[in-house]
Amino acid sequence: MAAASTGPELVPRLYAHIVGWGMAVPECVMTNDDLSAFVDTNDQWIHERTGIRQRYIANDRESSATLGLGAARRALEIANILPTDLDLIVVATSTPEHIFPATASLIQDWLGATKAGAYDLSAACSGFVYALENAAQAIKAGSVKIALVIGAETMSRVMDWHDRTTCVLFGDGAGAVVLKASTQPGGVLASLLRSDGAGCDLLAIPTQNVRDLAGHRLNRMYMAGQDVFKFAVRVVDEGIRQCLDKAGVALEDVRLIVPHQANQRILASVAKRLKMDSSMFMSNVERYGNTSAASIPIALCEAIEQKRVRANDHIVLIGFGGGLTWAASVIKWGVPKPEAPLLNRPRRQFAYALADVRSRFTRLQRAYSALRRRLKKLLS
Ligand code: ACO
Repeated sequence: MAAASTGPELVPRLYAHIVGWGMAVPECVMTNDDLSAFVDTNDQWIHERTGIRQRYIANDRESSATLGLGAARRALEIANILPTDLDLIVVATSTPEHIFPATASLIQDWLGATKAGAYDLSAACSGFVYALENAAQAIKAGSVKIALVIGAETMSRVMDWHDRTTCVLFGDGAGAVVLKASTQPGGVLASLLRSDGAGCDLLAIPTQNVRDLAGHRLNRMYMAGQDVFKFAVRVVDEGIRQCLDKAGVALEDVRLIVPHQANQRILASVAKRLKMDSSMFMSNVERYGNTSAASIPIALCEAIEQKRVRANDHIVLIGFGGGLTWAASVIKWGVPKPEAPLLNRPRRQFAYALADVRSRFTRLQRAYSALRRRLKKLLS
């Protein structure tokens, strides 16, 4: 007798919600006046043209990975999850420690996220939104339950400190969010990822693989500022409108726009084009400068801290930069609040300590094996 058909299995639709967030900046602040002590510039020019007053600069012990780790730990704390709960870690960065291994792998090891895949993503200042969309899609497809998305940069390491047209603009830092699968509608509703590689020569950090350097220095950033400015104003306006269309959300229903923090004048121009009050644009460029892929998650953390984002609000993230690239995400905020925020804290601390022991032990074991092999060779 044929088995009775039960019909197609109903799988509940999954949504990707931001349930944790965190940021980290270096210890040292560099003001415009500090800069003008060794670069031909001044506070008035920098502030009038960009809105920047200061930026954070990494010391010898700080790197994209250590800043990313700090941001990640804070995000796990808010999300109230253990590092071993993570399935995926994506780090958006243009200033990784190595070409490979990925900065994400270093952070995975330091956190003790033993069940997570880890990779870096390169899309310059749009990188965080690209990474967020990658992780959100993996969650919506059901292949990942919890993802950690980090934007981390040490732009100070790729600055040409003799080029006043770029070195005054950038800073270091990291921001992170935890994305979690939920059947509750909301979270990352829609995203728009775009690139125009014809603008690859406007903003770049050349490596040894470049044939024609055209007078540019290896591993140092250069930028055609005015061209990038015009590009930014156009794509931020278009990107926000197109992404909202995709999400089916009206511009009037947006509570806050969290843009890449490059220049206050870009934000003012975009607000004018969109006929929005510039207070609708989160801005903290004054204190951090342009932290590339880290700027959006840092601005998001501060917006949350300042209670500018509440449950059921629609917010838009928009990034733009090297590539050229641009990317937007529309998010319906609605964090399913953790019931016991401090419950996992000691367990998390223990997990970090264990991760450190595990990592050291693995290296020691490898060194011991190598020593044994060498001794065996010597004695044979
Ligand atoms: N201090 C003093 N004077 C300066 C400085 C400085 N730091 N830098 C440039 N100047 C001078 C120039 O030499 C020029 O002098 P001149 O008129 O005698 O030739 C004058 O100031 C004006 O220079 P502009 O380049 O025309 O200045 P502008 O108003 O365009 O501002 C800026 C330059 C701030 C770079 C702007 O073009 C900008 O913000 N561009 C967009 C950058 C951006 O958004 N990047 C995002 C992506 S970043 C990423 O993806 C990694």
